[in-house]
Amino acid sequence: MDDMAHKALIVGNWKMELAHKASLEHVRAVKKLLRNVEILADVVVCPAFPQLPEVAAALKTSTKIQVGAQAVHWEEQGAFTGAVAIAQVKPFAAWCIVGHSETRELTNMSEEHVRDTAMLLLKHGITPIVCVGESLVERQAEKTVERVTEQIGTLLSGVTRAGLAKLVVAYEPIWAISGNLKDGTGEMPDPSDVAEIVLLIRKLTATRFDAEAAGRLRVIYGGSVKPENVSAYVSEPGVNGVLLGSASINAVQFVEIVKKVQGLVD
Ligand code: PGA
Repeated sequence: MDDMAHKALIVGNWKMELAHKASLEHVRAVKKLLRNVEILADVVVCPAFPQLPEVAAALKTSTKIQVGAQAVHWEEQGAFTGAVAIAQVKPFAAWCIVGHSETRELTNMSEEHVRDTAMLLLKHGITPIVCVGESLVERQAEKTVERVTEQIGTLLSGVTRAGLAKLVVAYEPIWAISGNLKDGTGEMPDPSDVAEIVLLIRKLTATRFDAEAAGRLRVIYGGSVKPENVSAYVSEPGVNGVLLGSASINAVQFVEIVKKVQGLVD
């Protein structure tokens, strides 16, 4: 089911870490470090909303780094103070993270909202990177499989076969995310446990569609990924890349991870 070649994917989620000037300096530093590197992967950076236009402008001539948004509202338009609509990110972003655990918590996002956001993005030609994963309590209660099954089930209930080809799923156990205030443990899952959940995601996709469609789906891992541990995760079968938080705001670490991942994903 996962014997197809996938283009590796490395996504940097800057969260609200970099102020305006720092965002631009950071993206210039990444660009410089990648100057002599042949890029075989999709490399995506996700700045905060106010920085999207300038980061996109700074990368306009770059064929190596693409731009994504960190979130978008599930409604296409309306009176939602403080939220950002798809039309407002569309000129700048070709990718968008959906249902990150921090976004879910902040915006009271349900599984249906996650699905609807992914469908809205697909309709607008933006690639959704949909985050799924269990909380610390769910892990302790051994409910990981149940939780991910529920999340993928709801997501796939709205996605067509054509949409699936453009979808990315990121498995992010919430307890493994560094800096997560409520659930963060400082621990990471065993790479083989990640491979098991990635396989589960593909099996569920194969049941809903078929093995061929499931094999084509890109699935990545996120949570405390660093240059020193990334190889163990992307060497696992079926893991097509990584979603990075803290390592993505360090230019040297980010580029080191890009180099490692694109040499290992198949
Ligand atoms: P982290 O964040 O790499 O800092 O753990 C990952 C994420 O939240 O996407």
